[in-house]
Amino acid sequence: MWKLYFKHSKGYRAQALLTPVFVAIEALIEAILPLFMADVIDRASGLEPSSIISGFMNNVVNYFEWLFPQTPNVYVYCYGVIMLILALLALMGGVVSGILATNASSGFAKSVRKDLYYHIQDYSFENIDRFSTSSLITRLTTDITNCQQSFQMTTRISFRAPLIFIFSLIMAFLANSRLAWVFVIASPILVILLIIIITKANPYFKKMFKKYDHLNLIVQENITGIRTVKSYVNEDLENKKFEHASSEVASNSKMAEKIIALNSPVMMFIIYASVTIVAFVGSLMIARDGYGEGSTLYLFITYAIQILSALMMVSMVFMMLVMAKASTDRIIEALNEVPTIQNCSSPLYEIKDGSVEFKDVSFSYLHDDDKLALKNISFKVESGMVVGIFGSTGSGKTTLMNLIPRLYDVNQGEVLVGGVNVKDYDIKSLRDQVSMVLQKNVLFSGTIKDNLRWGNKDATDEELIAACKLAQADEFISRFNDGYDTYIEQGGTNVSGGQKQRICIARALLKKPKILILDDSTSAVDTKTDALIRKAFKEEIPSTTKFIITQRISSVEDADIILFMVDGKIANIGTHEQLLKENEVYKKIYLAQTKGGK
Ligand SMILES: Nc1ncnc2c1ncn2[C@@H]1O[C@H](COP(=O)(O)OP(=O)(O)O)[C@@H](O)[C@H]1O
Ligand SMILES: [Mg+2]
Repeated sequence: MWKLYFKHSKGYRAQALLTPVFVAIEALIEAILPLFMADVIDRASGLEPSSIISGFMNNVVNYFEWLFPQTPNVYVYCYGVIMLILALLALMGGVVSGILATNASSGFAKSVRKDLYYHIQDYSFENIDRFSTSSLITRLTTDITNCQQSFQMTTRISFRAPLIFIFSLIMAFLANSRLAWVFVIASPILVILLIIIITKANPYFKKMFKKYDHLNLIVQENITGIRTVKSYVNEDLENKKFEHASSEVASNSKMAEKIIALNSPVMMFIIYASVTIVAFVGSLMIARDGYGEGSTLYLFITYAIQILSALMMVSMVFMMLVMAKASTDRIIEALNEVPTIQNCSSPLYEIKDGSVEFKDVSFSYLHDDDKLALKNISFKVESGMVVGIFGSTGSGKTTLMNLIPRLYDVNQGEVLVGGVNVKDYDIKSLRDQVSMVLQKNVLFSGTIKDNLRWGNKDATDEELIAACKLAQADEFISRFNDGYDTYIEQGGTNVSGGQKQRICIARALLKKPKILILDDSTSAVDTKTDALIRKAFKEEIPSTTKFIITQRISSVEDADIILFMVDGKIANIGTHEQLLKENEVYKKIYLAQTKGGK
């Protein structure tokens, strides 16, 4: 935990270290200020002031009396001015330390956030599956903010409280060692009470954070899926889910807060009890043997309050740390997650051609041999072929294609691209050459051009238009008022499903890949346009290997080879005509689909 704070306070360490210096100035002044007041009280009651500053102040007062000889009670002004200056210095110490602590803590938060964000960019799909998107977002936002706040508070208070405690205790002993013993007795009682309160509250805080995660998950699911929720008129159910999660958070934080709330009355009680005891014992002492008369009692009560409020601050720091600990652990967990897909030690950067071969490949998302998503897949396709992948939902089509750009690694067997195992390629080079239009594709907010260039940032306008022509996107883009500069809203909500799909295909084409995978990417495009896209592919990019995943046989009818997937296995492999002859199920589906009318 401390390692994280140490590492990310780099660059802000000077500020973090200077904070205690200014805190010390503030605390020291706060500790000696009461001495001035005590002197004034002594002088007013006609006694000789006897604190450690009295000698110095005598000189000052004498000087002032020499400057303004006729003024009565000059000492009141002297003390007043000096106390004012000291109070301003203490204020400055407080403000400067506050600014330093804020700078250091926000710098720390920025650094952790950047690290975590970059680290998440290296996550494989498997890593993301393990954490879930919502949990990663919570960790990047709420958790880091928690740590930042506690960092800021604790750098100040954790120095301030002990310093005030020590200074005040010393001052109290200097003033009167017999009375000071009251503090020595009261402090441990306070500490014990604090520990009891904190240990009781801690589990509730931990639980609260877990529930908070759940709440975020629900909020995130609902807001990102708000269109689906609305179209299914499921708002009521979603609201109930939210209320449940929200009240779980509330009840846990209530329990924790209740215990914490006990903290402050208990503390107050002890503070005032101690003050009362000091006042009582002190007045008895003074009455009995005139011991420590004058300002002593005033000093004691002041230091009593300072000492005990310092202890109270310590308890606050502990609370902050308990809260921050839960968040810090969650950040560290995400930071320590090892990306499951990494480059091998001496990767290849060149991919010879677009040939693909699967050799007895099996794959499970859960690394469980009993729950295989793909079983013993073997096939080989030459560069430039059009490969149809046909099968029902859940038959493993997407999973099969995910293995080619190495979005997941196989559990058994080998995937070869251009005759070389995909694990031997540099991941970026591989993914540049294997362009995959995902089933759940996304457009980012920005113009159409921005979105297209996302595929290849150096593409010229001519290349953009050529790719869009191939994907049959040019005809509708040029009909938009702003053409290629049309602004796409977040998630691409202002273009139709079919238009979005075609922009995504164009984006994938801009990489000029050796292998192009379209995962159900024309599902929302009408059959005529779909056929035009395939025709353009055949004519314009003949050397690119094209994988076309579909549930519509018409989309793969003219493919060079079709893999018919059933339940994670290849049920049959061959051309459309071969499959019609060899596979009864395939034939039935084909007849049903064509009879349904195109
Ligand atoms: N990220 C994932 N984690 C766990 N299981 C998954 C994941 N993605 C898909 N699956 C499972 O793998 C199987 C094949 O899914 P998929 O390849 O997406 O099928 P298809 O693309 O043919 O519809 C399904 O049983 C699905 O539930
Ligand atoms: Mg799929």
